[in-house]
Amino acid sequence: MTPQTSTPNTPLGVDPPPHFAVVVAEVERAIEQGLDEPSFPETLRSAVRYAALGAGKRLRPALTLLACEACGGDRATALTPAVAVELIHAFSLVHDDLPALDNDELRRGRPTLHVQYDEATAILAGDAMMSMAFGLLAAGEDATPGTSAALVRELARATNRMIAGQVLDTVGDAADGAALDPASAVRVIHAQKTGALICAACRMGAIVAGADASRLDAITRYGDAVGLMFQIVDDLIDVEQLESHTGKKTGKDEAADKLTYPGVLGVGAARAEAHRLREEAIRALSPLGDDAQTLIDLTAYLASRTR
Ligand code: IPE
Ligand code: IPE
Ligand code: MG
Ligand code: MG
Ligand code: MG
Repeated sequence: MTPQTSTPNTPLGVDPPPHFAVVVAEVERAIEQGLDEPSFPETLRSAVRYAALGAGKRLRPALTLLACEACGGDRATALTPAVAVELIHAFSLVHDDLPALDNDELRRGRPTLHVQYDEATAILAGDAMMSMAFGLLAAGEDATPGTSAALVRELARATNRMIAGQVLDTVGDAADGAALDPASAVRVIHAQKTGALICAACRMGAIVAGADASRLDAITRYGDAVGLMFQIVDDLIDVEQLESHTGKKTGKDEAADKLTYPGVLGVGAARAEAHRLREEAIRALSPLGDDAQTLIDLTAYLASRTR
């Protein structure tokens, strides 16, 4: 399929909600502060900064802060897990782009880390961002010891699922592949490689807010739906948008023979599934009432984004 600039269903210039810029500015400041690791050699420090501070949308940390608010918490108390989840995400992108995985040379409108530096530095910077993320959580600046342990468990589980999903996406698994039809296989891969970290981003915000079981359940159902939706939209962007708009190569999934929603279901059905998941996500938030409005506004953007 040839990428196009837009289709009637995917207008260009779909913007995030107005308050999103405020939340992202808070996140950017916190990431900048969280990156200082004096024991690293200068090359590694600058490689980590390159990977973590590029023009990312910061959607996962924003979800952490807004989920915290949706559960009645003060979003400033969720900044440490927000930074931790963004560091895991940045690590996942650096490794995803490596020649052994997706072999991409453009990310966030700039050369990927292994192109800008070299492959060894990219591998090691990914490793570093992973340990930095858990180090931040364990230091637990704004959390009680019990909360810190819960956050570490949450992020470790999601990181393991992300890596498992990347294995299925990249290397495959003969046993799993034989057992599942393509629609089920692509759902499992997407829920793991992308959905798990997004759901954990949401749950960590709820955990910091001290959410009770019913609120945590609502946020979990929200995170599961929005996490899967996120990767379906990413697949659609790969088919429908231009590299000059997205800042990363498009039209690459079909060329790399990836299992994607548009590839398995077709573009129309993939978009319908993203829409269904958006509705499911928003419905899941209903027990949270008005506190969840900013999260609902962000969900609409996540469903319609074109980059
Ligand atoms: C891209 O994620 C990788 C996926 C899991 C689909 P984003 O679209 O959130 O990437 P950035 O952080 O904004 O660059
Ligand atoms: C990335 O999925 C999932 C990760 C765990 C990083 P993609 O391979 O589709 O992400 P892009 O399109 O390269 O950003
Ligand atoms: Mg990939
Ligand atoms: Mg990729
Ligand atoms: Mg993609």
